[in-house]
Amino acid sequence: MSLLEKINRDTTPKHIAIIMDGNGRWAQQQGEERLFGHNFGVEAVRETLKAAQDMNVEHLTLYAFSTENWSRPKEEVDGLMDLLIKTIGNEVEELHNSNVVITTIGNTSGLPESCQKELRDAYETTKNNSGINLILALNYSAKWELTNATREIARLVAAKEIGLDDVNDDLISDHLSTKGIPDPELLIRTSGENRVSNFLLWQIAYSEFHFTEILWPDFGREDLYKAVLDYQSRERRFGMVSAQIEKS
Ligand code: FPP
Repeated sequence: MSLLEKINRDTTPKHIAIIMDGNGRWAQQQGEERLFGHNFGVEAVRETLKAAQDMNVEHLTLYAFSTENWSRPKEEVDGLMDLLIKTIGNEVEELHNSNVVITTIGNTSGLPESCQKELRDAYETTKNNSGINLILALNYSAKWELTNATREIARLVAAKEIGLDDVNDDLISDHLSTKGIPDPELLIRTSGENRVSNFLLWQIAYSEFHFTEILWPDFGREDLYKAVLDYQSRERRFGMVSAQIEKS
């Protein structure tokens, strides 16, 4: 029985979020510059997306560039932006043909104009597709997102458009860049680092975490199946006890 056949389709996560980490170390291991690793990381993105499609995952969020990544050497930042522009441009037709919707979260207005244009075009081309929603987190950080949400909600309260009692879980979720998207049931981080790094802090309140030693460029289709099988072996209690879960 293949790994894919072992997956229970009834409990496949609807939303998987991934912190793609280890490109730099992978390149170093090959005696290459860091950008070499990012280039190979694109192949891992392709494979992961296909695996997610195989399992009918509805949303796949990839942490491609954080607000903190600007502090990397200029050459690496420029290289990453070029890679993004080139990759989106090259892949959009194939992604469109495979029914993918390409969206983003994060402060995309802070990205180079050419990158913003590729992203806008990619969204315009794919927005009516009905397949997987590929969400690229770009110039994203959870603290940035939560600060914006807080500011906007405070403004609504100050303008008396809402009352203090209207501020609840749903209202906050509706002011995040993931509005309308279910929280990820599964968060994966590659490269052996066991951190969340300012990613989706609100949305992962009840996510299962899967950490793997694999460096991102080596992450393949089977690795996503394995992460989902690991997720399916867990008991999600949401603050309850086992007996309550068994009854429901
Ligand atoms: C983290 O590895 C990786 C990134 C900051 C960039 C991720 C980008 C890609 C995989 C390529 C482009 C993606 C798309 C969606 C087209 P790292 O550099 O922090 O690795 P290290 O921890 O080994 O240094």
